[in-house]
Amino acid sequence: MEKYMNAATINRYGQKQLELTKVEIPEVSSDDVLVEIHAASINPIDFKIRDGKLKMLLTYKMPLILGNDFSGVVVQVGKCVTDFKVGDEVYGRPRKSRIGTFAEYIAVHKDDIAMKPKNLSFEEAAAVPLVGLTTYQAFHDVMQLKLNNKILIQAGSGGVGTFAIQLAKHMGAYVATTTSAKNEALVKELGADLVIDYRTEEFDEKLTNYDYVYDTLGGESLKKSFKILKPGGKIVSLSGIPNHRFAQEYGLNFWKSSLLKLATRKLTALEKQYKVQYNFLFMKPSGAQLATIRELIEAQKIKPIIDRVILFEDIQQAFDYSESGRAKGKVIVKIK
Ligand SMILES: NC(=O)c1ccc[n+]([C@@H]2O[C@H](COP(=O)([O-])OP(=O)(O)OC[C@H]3O[C@@H](n4cnc5c(N)ncnc54)[C@H](OP(=O)(O)O)[C@@H]3O)[C@@H](O)[C@H]2O)c1
Repeated sequence: MEKYMNAATINRYGQKQLELTKVEIPEVSSDDVLVEIHAASINPIDFKIRDGKLKMLLTYKMPLILGNDFSGVVVQVGKCVTDFKVGDEVYGRPRKSRIGTFAEYIAVHKDDIAMKPKNLSFEEAAAVPLVGLTTYQAFHDVMQLKLNNKILIQAGSGGVGTFAIQLAKHMGAYVATTTSAKNEALVKELGADLVIDYRTEEFDEKLTNYDYVYDTLGGESLKKSFKILKPGGKIVSLSGIPNHRFAQEYGLNFWKSSLLKLATRKLTALEKQYKVQYNFLFMKPSGAQLATIRELIEAQKIKPIIDRVILFEDIQQAFDYSESGRAKGKVIVKIK
């Protein structure tokens, strides 16, 4: 086997242009599999890591290979791996200390992958792991979404939103979503019951008595979300500021926890005012949950929505397009 592979790296935080370079193929330890990556998807966390915006939660050594999810074929297994064998088609989201899917190979812990859905191409499968796990954890683990619950999904046309609408409908919820008029047909086709054009309408003036808000926007939109919930309702935010509850769960030290408590004091006040709960969610890798998501995809309950597929050598274009904030579903990088 060759010793080197192509990878997209940065040498310092804030480096906007990725470097396509040769690096050593990673070594496989006893619980790892080595995957030849066929496709990977762009996620906004890639820009946040590149820009050093997550340094409070995640720190990396440079040079760093970016990329947080993938699909591919197993080419080697560690000595403790029994669930996967060479030739298996898999998909996954590596643990946060071991990212690097914009590369030809990745060594990944066996618990972070699952067999790829049989009815998806590699490009389609790579669209799923990060947004699928995030949404599965929000809807199952935090909200425990039930039949006829009312949920607002912000940015229904994005990578997270297109998956979230389908999962919420599968779980029996009534779904309102925000997007701009050009994406109305897409989100309706995915099952949205009520579509709000955020460019001409204010969601907090139209919605009331909701059980849940799935917030992908943060900022002012997050603050306005409290108003539409019924008492006892919950916000699960992917883009807001982590609060003290999250700091405890994540095991942050006293100083970081205190800083976050201070930064979220307005959100804490809104929780009390509206008698609702604000949760920041930072998704976790899970091969077991990816196996459950595979079943939903194979049963045709959920399909990935892909905006475009871009070749590995043009990965910078994929970053620039995704960073424009206008993607309809996922942007995929084809690696093999
Ligand atoms: N905490 C976590 O674990 C976690 C996990 C996954 C994602 N996230 C975060 O979740 C956010 C969303 O991720 P994503 O992958 O879905 O992003 P994305 O795919 O880049 O989102 C793009 C979509 O957002 C829509 N949009 C932009 N501004 C909007 C607004 N003000 N109101 C409604 N829709 C709007 C756009 O529609 P138009 O073109 O019509 O504007 C576009 O279709 C990111 O900040 C990401 O970092 C966090």
